[in-house]
Amino acid sequence: MPLNPRTSDGRATGTATPRFELAHIGPHVDDGERAVAELRAGLGRSPAHLPARLLYDARGSALFDAITELPEYYPTRAETEILERHAGEIIERAAPAELFELGSGSSRKTRILIEAALERGCRRYVALDVSASALEQAGLELVAAHDELSVRALVADFASGLAHRAGPGPRLVLFLGSTLGNFRPEERRRFLKQLALSLRPDDRLLLGYDIVKPAAVLELAYDDPAGVTAAFVRNGLHNLARVGGEPIPLAAFAYEAKWIPESSHMEMRLVARRDLRIRLPNLDLHLDLAAGEFLISEISTKFTRESLARDLSEAGLTVDVTFADRAKRFELLLARPQG
Ligand code: SAH
Ligand code: AVI
Repeated sequence: MPLNPRTSDGRATGTATPRFELAHIGPHVDDGERAVAELRAGLGRSPAHLPARLLYDARGSALFDAITELPEYYPTRAETEILERHAGEIIERAAPAELFELGSGSSRKTRILIEAALERGCRRYVALDVSASALEQAGLELVAAHDELSVRALVADFASGLAHRAGPGPRLVLFLGSTLGNFRPEERRRFLKQLALSLRPDDRLLLGYDIVKPAAVLELAYDDPAGVTAAFVRNGLHNLARVGGEPIPLAAFAYEAKWIPESSHMEMRLVARRDLRIRLPNLDLHLDLAAGEFLISEISTKFTRESLARDLSEAGLTVDVTFADRAKRFELLLARPQG
């Protein structure tokens, strides 16, 4: 039953129930100054990068959901398969009092873990994302489906989220979908260190990561024939135009997804079809691109079990156990803070 349609900081929200609360924590995700600083930093790189928050507005979150259903995009199905086989063991090993998910999106796969957690008496789910629309939809659906569950949704970026602690008892931090792969290497190292420092001795991390595989498989997964991924990336450019304050000729860009073996990442590119000047008057900035030059909308790093274990160990995390899907395309690992 709708109760108090306000977030915990007093801003009005759509709907709240006694078991679902939506709050903004840390600096507001739409904070103009922060967003502009992040944009400037990304656009100032060579080649220029779009920040993730331009990709995940309400339309971007819906398009990402559509990507997860594509036959070519295997990660979501592979991770779901692992969770369906091993959720009970994961919850048994971690014995959490709270599930805390970073970049939760639709929380669809998380339901498998939530159900296993409820069976063991863990009733608290905290979901953090920059997308308020995704959080609200997922949270309301979850409390409607599970009478005993309470959901706290935090609209925040990863950095603010790690500093936040809701309740007592061991926490299982979930970082699924290989979202870790969307960080650049230096960002990834910084994030993993911060994450390790945020964990108490009894807390555990459940991390999903995508495995290196042949270029043809990867390039099809990130450039599907139906054009859903291209639409997701173009939506980022559309948002750049909105924030920048002047239209960008979207048709003047071709979408390309390329495997870069030296960096072990997929690169999602918007390639200028002709010489272009992108004016961003609100940012007091312009970008000049010659025909064939490109913006990077996202990278998606692919790992080996060994390469990731090294990164985790450097950050202060030890891997307890690893689970793979049957076709060995994707893995989940459970890690603990080094003692
Ligand atoms: N975990 C889900 C969704 C992955 S999509 C899955 O596995 O399917 C990545 C999610 O991370 C999106 O919901 C996006 O809104 C969120 N996200 C991206 N950058 C973020 C940031 N800096 N801080 C918090 N959330 C972020
Ligand atoms: C969210 N993230 C893990 C996705 C990925 O696979 O890197 C984002 C994505 N971009 C295009 N397709 C999927």
